[in-house]
Amino acid sequence: VADIRKLYAEQDIFTYDPGFTSTGSCKSAITYIDGDEGVLLHRGYAIADLAENCEFLEVAYLILKGELPNPEQKAKFEKDIIRHSMLNEQINFFYRGFRRDAHPMAVMCGVVGAMAAFYHDSTDINDPHQRMIASYRLIAKMPTVTGWAYKYMQGQPFMYPQNGLSYAENFLHLMFATPCEQYKVSPVLAKAMDRILILHADHEQNASTSTVRLAGSSGANPFACIAAGIASLWGPAHGGANEAVLNMLGEIGSVERIPEFIKKAKDKDDPFRLMGFGHRVYKNYDPRAKIMQKTCHEVLDELGVQDEPLLKLAMELERIALEDDYFVSRKLFPNVDFYSGIIFRAMGIPTQMFTSLFALARTVGWIAQWNEMLTDPDQKIGRPRQLYVGEPQRAFIPLDKRA
Ligand code: ACO
Repeated sequence: VADIRKLYAEQDIFTYDPGFTSTGSCKSAITYIDGDEGVLLHRGYAIADLAENCEFLEVAYLILKGELPNPEQKAKFEKDIIRHSMLNEQINFFYRGFRRDAHPMAVMCGVVGAMAAFYHDSTDINDPHQRMIASYRLIAKMPTVTGWAYKYMQGQPFMYPQNGLSYAENFLHLMFATPCEQYKVSPVLAKAMDRILILHADHEQNASTSTVRLAGSSGANPFACIAAGIASLWGPAHGGANEAVLNMLGEIGSVERIPEFIKKAKDKDDPFRLMGFGHRVYKNYDPRAKIMQKTCHEVLDELGVQDEPLLKLAMELERIALEDDYFVSRKLFPNVDFYSGIIFRAMGIPTQMFTSLFALARTVGWIAQWNEMLTDPDQKIGRPRQLYVGEPQRAFIPLDKRA
């Protein structure tokens, strides 16, 4: 790395690669993707094995620390996370400054960024212990941050985390319990939520993770870096796609109208794209989408709504698109967001909250990548170059001489 840097600096050479389609920005031992084969590994373990056999906090431990926990390590990690799940009570007032109709992602950007002002004992980025406390705090508090964003939107009182519940159960409790009524968490729905969190936990150098790394490369506060990641995730080309898929399915409305929308998606003069289709790295079926489709069926069975029209519409849209030469030739397959929205909708989560759930899960990947970056001796402050295409130097014109 040092030799290449020196050589390029001496010759003033740099690559021009908008969108980083072929530029590596870091090295990482966390996640491996083979986009042609549809392979996704975390620390060497296949995503399907993790989704089938692990709980979310086991995967969080793996991503953060490099190995799966043994039973004692798992129990201790769960205890440590539970211990940090409450938010400072003052943050409660911070929420109240937002309009009730604010988008939950806007609220989460603000609240997570504001956490930098509350937890001063976890901000020395050169101290591994403080970095670990910041990581635990973020993973532990995100269900509360997200649940409260929902409650605030609903005009309902905030609920507090319960120590006896698993991570996924606790999140469902924070969302759906009220002071008047306990939320009876269905094991099937809790398992499905846990699996969805696993499927979103990390995905190497996507836009939001790269944003967290870039922000962190200047030595910025960890809570501020994660707020930057949330902002980047919000866009419809990234995490906002799950919300956009449901909006699109609603707009299509019926199976008969699918060809009309397929035509629109192929029309280069029309900005419309099939949401939940295509991926920068996967040129094969996204392995997470397959698991998501299976989970979708399990959830709809549990809820007794197997005939959910949106699922039928999504499956038919997928079938038609995958037989269309436009999508086949460009290797555009359903991505992780294609089915997640249908599951969330069936669970009673409103569309506006979908991307917030993605942010909750991805916090694990963001903070693990932030830690990895800070301990990489090759890492410097991120400072891309640019290809200047403006005016060359020219003579200054005084105000009274300008046309
Ligand atoms: N619908 C129609 N056409 C598409 C789609 C789509 N969803 N996605 C890509 N294409 C076409 C492009 O128009 C382009 O066609 P061309 O070669 O004729 O010009 C070709 O496929 C390649 O697309 P690019 O935009 O160059 O691919 P890129 O890697 O830059 O974009 C992206 C990837 C942003 C995911 C894109 O596929 C997209 O917009 N998909 C819809 C949004 C979405 O689902 N995002 C979620 C991504 S996964 C995640 O973040 C969790």
